[in-house]
Amino acid sequence: MDLGLQNRRAIITGGSKGIGKAIAFELVTEGADLALCARGDKALQATAQEISEKSGRMVFAQAADVTDDEQVSAFVTATAEELGGIDILVNNAGSALPGTFEEVDEERWKADLDVKLFAAMRCVRHALPYLKESNQARIVNINSIVGRQIAPEYIANSTDRAACLAFNKGLSDNLAKYGILVNSISPGNVKSNAWGSTLDYFAPDAELEAYYKEVSEQTPLGRVAEANEIAAVVAFLASKRASYITGASIDVDGGLVRCI
Ligand SMILES: NC(=O)c1ccc[n+]([C@@H]2O[C@H](COP(=O)([O-])OP(=O)(O)OC[C@H]3O[C@@H](n4cnc5c(N)ncnc54)[C@H](OP(=O)(O)O)[C@@H]3O)[C@@H](O)[C@H]2O)c1
Repeated sequence: MDLGLQNRRAIITGGSKGIGKAIAFELVTEGADLALCARGDKALQATAQEISEKSGRMVFAQAADVTDDEQVSAFVTATAEELGGIDILVNNAGSALPGTFEEVDEERWKADLDVKLFAAMRCVRHALPYLKESNQARIVNINSIVGRQIAPEYIANSTDRAACLAFNKGLSDNLAKYGILVNSISPGNVKSNAWGSTLDYFAPDAELEAYYKEVSEQTPLGRVAEANEIAAVVAFLASKRASYITGASIDVDGGLVRCI
């Protein structure tokens, strides 16, 4: 299937590791040029070099914290100059804040909301003038199933992800008049570096593989996802083949969400 991603220009926030890195590989494989950001410059540059060498595509990388408006602005402006425009924005940067209501204080909750909801808004705001110029503009927001199937032991994460779902839907409506399609993907449990903090909280003495096995048992497909299984769906939503989907949220969770 030709996804029509050849020479498309894509931003991926949090592109240095995990799901973001897998999305980067997926999109360059389809012929896109990339701009990646993350806070840690060393890992970011190493990832950009690795992807560029393996694919022969343009991979621009600039350190930027998505919670900082000036850094986002500088990154998006530099991206548009380096790539000659922007067709695709993937809002992926993020982390999971574990804890119940009594464990999460207001400061950490606000920080979680900032990196998830406000960061996505910020990136959209800065990328919007360029997306409006594109003839195949796409925004893909990486969310989480906990926004739909509320996890009480992740109350801030769940609440903030539910807000991100509402933003995804509202934004799709607001930007439809420009032909910009906006969709969200809600992963379940995916192998990545993000599990370190989760493990520290829920099972500090457990080995990561043992923890994966435990959560796999709660998943109908019986395993944790590989990051490239999320990336494949991002590539489809970013493609010309996904021409009549907007405002959708797709669970990529091995069947973990039980509600319809
Ligand atoms: N893994 C899962 O099971 C799972 C499930 C549901 C949803 N998700 C969501 O999927 C997304 C990717 O998660 P992941 O599992 O791939 O995590 P990861 O392996 O920890 O990667 C996170 C990426 O985001 C970057 N990042 C974090 N905070 C940032 C900030 N403030 N500004 C810029 N970049 C930032 C990180 O780089 P730096 O640290 O260098 O900034 C890294 O590149 C997240 O939004 C996460 O909540 C993951």
